[in-house]
Amino acid sequence: MLVTDRLIIRPTVMEDAPLLMDLNSDPEVMRYTGDVEFSNIVEYQNLIRERLIPQFKTHKMGRFSVTLKNGTFLGWCGLKYFPETDEVDLGYRFMKKFWGLGYASESGLECLKYGFKTLGLKRIIGKAMPENTASIKVLQKLGMTFRGYVHDPTDPQAFILYEMKQGEFKCEG
Ligand SMILES: CC(C)(COP(=O)(O)OP(=O)(O)OC[C@H]1O[C@@H](n2cnc3c(N)ncnc32)[C@H](O)[C@@H]1OP(=O)(O)O)[C@@H](O)C(=O)NCCC(=O)NCCS
Repeated sequence: MLVTDRLIIRPTVMEDAPLLMDLNSDPEVMRYTGDVEFSNIVEYQNLIRERLIPQFKTHKMGRFSVTLKNGTFLGWCGLKYFPETDEVDLGYRFMKKFWGLGYASESGLECLKYGFKTLGLKRIIGKAMPENTASIKVLQKLGMTFRGYVHDPTDPQAFILYEMKQGEFKCEG
């Protein structure tokens, strides 16, 4: 579990399934993610059981649930390992009512710190659709560096790629 001034960032648990379903049910939240909303709660339960929990067990990382200290669910933020490219990606997704309050930046910074200092990762990337101004702003605020445009062969949408290398991470503590 990671703790910041305002936030608790913790591995996803089965009880989060309805919260993730609620988060993904907002088309504005999903608009620039490239993901589609699952159709029922069982698919969210399967996602947590079959992908999120194993990712944490195997790689000690994941898209972690982010809450306020009083337990209010805000969304998720965290690292994901892609074996096909051997890359670790920082991602985030928050309920619309909590946008613009600095939560993605605050949790993103803590996840970068966890990745570089605790896990000893050498490089972390972040990708966003060119139209996703808020997400790009977060990657820039975190100090990540623009590296160009990338195309996933299975997806015609181009993503903007940012990256940070271990020695570039600057954070107190
Ligand atoms: C992207 C997202 C996670 C950002 O979360 P957040 O908690 O609002 O982010 P922060 O408050 O830390 O920072 C957002 C920054 O973008 C800025 N911003 C937001 N919308 C903007 C817009 N349309 N144009 C320009 N800047 C914008 C904010 O002003 C803020 O910058 P500032 O701190 O300098 O004022 C949130 O919008 C979200 O969940 N979007 C839907 C899911 C998504 O797209 N995830 C990313 C996929 S790559």
